[in-house]
Amino acid sequence: MSPYQSAIGIQDLIREGPGTFRVSGRAYADQAIFDLEQERIFLKTWIYVAHESELREPGDFKTAHLGTQPVIVTRGDDMRIHVFANRCVHRGAAVCRERSGNARVFVCPYHSWSFDLTGRLTGIPGRDDAGGYGPDFEQPEGLARIPRVESYRGFIFACASDDVVPLETYLAGGAAQLIDRKLAQAPAGTISLRGAPFIGVYQGNWKFQAENIVDGYHFMHTHRAFVSLQSKYGDSTGDFGVHKGDNAAKMRRNRMLGNVLASRYGHGINQKPTPDLESLFIGNYAAYYFQLRELHGEDELKWVVGAGAGCIFPNFGIIHNQLRVWRPIGPDLTEVTIYPYSLDGAPDSFNEGMLRSHERFYGPAGYGATDDVEVFALNQQGLAATLSDWIILERGMHAETVLPSGEIEGRPSSETVHRAFWRRWRELMSAEPEGSHV
Ligand code: FES
Ligand SMILES: [Fe+2]
Repeated sequence: MSPYQSAIGIQDLIREGPGTFRVSGRAYADQAIFDLEQERIFLKTWIYVAHESELREPGDFKTAHLGTQPVIVTRGDDMRIHVFANRCVHRGAAVCRERSGNARVFVCPYHSWSFDLTGRLTGIPGRDDAGGYGPDFEQPEGLARIPRVESYRGFIFACASDDVVPLETYLAGGAAQLIDRKLAQAPAGTISLRGAPFIGVYQGNWKFQAENIVDGYHFMHTHRAFVSLQSKYGDSTGDFGVHKGDNAAKMRRNRMLGNVLASRYGHGINQKPTPDLESLFIGNYAAYYFQLRELHGEDELKWVVGAGAGCIFPNFGIIHNQLRVWRPIGPDLTEVTIYPYSLDGAPDSFNEGMLRSHERFYGPAGYGATDDVEVFALNQQGLAATLSDWIILERGMHAETVLPSGEIEGRPSSETVHRAFWRRWRELMSAEPEGSHV
């Protein structure tokens, strides 16, 4: 055990036994724990950085983060994806200030050292001037490369450590199935991110968002106002609604369908079959649904067009028609970026309807996302009361099934998914810094 670990006592932060699963409030609030998370989680495991629809052409780039570490993601002339540190090798300035764009070269704003699409250093102004760099100058190769970059069906992940399982192994099971089912909603089998992402910051720990995106328990409570509006005015969202259901009782019933799934590497998945497949074949988009039935068969279609959400450990989520990244900034400060997407090959009006529906709940003036963010801040405020330490994450623990795959299946509002997250968190946080983590 390293002295750092014993000082923090990772094992003491989670109390697990038969029927018991509790997490110390300190795990969300302590600066030393936050710093250790950066080292042992965000630099050691796969982190989602981009979707391929953001980087279609050579020269397309975006900036992203591995935890607190800024990186640039590019599509090179060789069509390969490159990820490197957004930190100039000269004196450390962030080389790229934009969130996304297309470039041939990145020129540092400070002294104009330049780097190509692979991060290679290609120019130093005044390099050979009399007062420049001498003959023995050890010129750096370029921006620090992130060694592992892999993609699963267009979802691009990077890992700062070489010592990590292949991405396909990492996502195997529920996480890959969720991605497959989301893509199966698109007749073309692909999605395209659309519009500018919606970016917000909340005053709470990043793990509140990880837990919440698959929290089947909170919806009818945290989003009470939305539920009562929906009950009052009915479902006016057509065939593509987020949170469909024209009265509270029906919404509650629908939310009790399906299951949650906890995966090996800490992913939590929440899947509900659509309650009324038949109605889709007589609605406005019958042709689209017939097309999907042709592609996937009726049994699978129930799940494909049902509601699915997932927390891909540690900070990537998929819910409804959006991808979501939550970026840790400090123990009590988190940035959330929401990317709505279109289903390639679906009718344009269907995609428009999905976007409107998304805005209604998740947009800056939407009914729902603001409720969650307020609760995250309240979570953080409440944790200041250290007289009561333990957070209870035991819901549904007595009603779980271990599947042959090793994944754990729980009831829809069970905290099975949260326990998976925390077990993985404990595993990574307890490992020696130089050790093997997966
Ligand atoms: S810090 Fe980048 S060129 Fe000087
Ligand atoms: Fe919510």
